[in-house]
Amino acid sequence: MPVSLPFTPDLSVKPEVVAFFDEPTNTISYIVRDPASTSCAVVDSVMDIDYAAGRITYDGADRIIAHIREKGWTLEWLIETHVHADHLSAAPYIQSKLGGKLGIGENIVVVQDTFGKVFNEGTEFERDGSQFDRLFRDGDSYAIGTMTAHVMHTPGHTPACMTHVIGDAAFVGDTLFMPDGGTARADFPGGDARTLYRSIQRILALPDEMRLFMCHDYGPNDRNIEWETTVGEEKRNNIHVGHGASEDEFVKMREARDATLSMPRLILPSLQVNMRAGRLPPADKDGKVFLKVPVNTL
Ligand SMILES: [Fe+2]
Repeated sequence: MPVSLPFTPDLSVKPEVVAFFDEPTNTISYIVRDPASTSCAVVDSVMDIDYAAGRITYDGADRIIAHIREKGWTLEWLIETHVHADHLSAAPYIQSKLGGKLGIGENIVVVQDTFGKVFNEGTEFERDGSQFDRLFRDGDSYAIGTMTAHVMHTPGHTPACMTHVIGDAAFVGDTLFMPDGGTARADFPGGDARTLYRSIQRILALPDEMRLFMCHDYGPNDRNIEWETTVGEEKRNNIHVGHGASEDEFVKMREARDATLSMPRLILPSLQVNMRAGRLPPADKDGKVFLKVPVNTL
């Protein structure tokens, strides 16, 4: 089945990409800068949490903020590729220091509905995506300085997953991992292995030279952490979808593997915060903030 892209990639635009690795969650955050201006975007930032102590800090986000300030760049966008289940977003914190608009896929409303129920949220938790400044649809575009960023709906890991293609760089979120890491799991509520395979085919339909930037890397087989590859490299070598692996083969492999995986350590705090665009739940009448642990629900 031929795969069609909702836009024409422009490889002549080559954004500067600065990566920040968060060791506790194996997440890579990015600053993407327009080489023709000072404009930039931040993709998938991380808030630090000591879950056992219930303590939240912003060391990682502060490093990103310091880099942007040192360079004199202007933050125009804070992008979430999806609602992360393994780390908390620092996007509102960074936005409060540097400005910019916060964007995520329009299917955030599906995720909000699902987890609004899981966490038994009241009516004060709005399930319309209004916590974000922009809800992206497949084929949407937005500007980072003189660059045009294109948004592609790539669900399967979650319903709201989006790949952002900016010049010759694509930020794939949790779809593909590095070639030796394979692909993201597809067993969270709203996830689906067959849908993930089809989304990945769209990413692999981008030009072979397109740079791909991962949201996670776990350094399989003791190699150093890496986060950048290309479409061509993934097509040739990805252990799950390379060598032209078929949809049925992939679904069988992915579902068997997912059945062996335990829940991410930070899934409960992550979802409660990230479904609110990275904000903590509202404080109680004494000004205290609590996160919930639903028992035997996930
Ligand atoms: Fe994820």
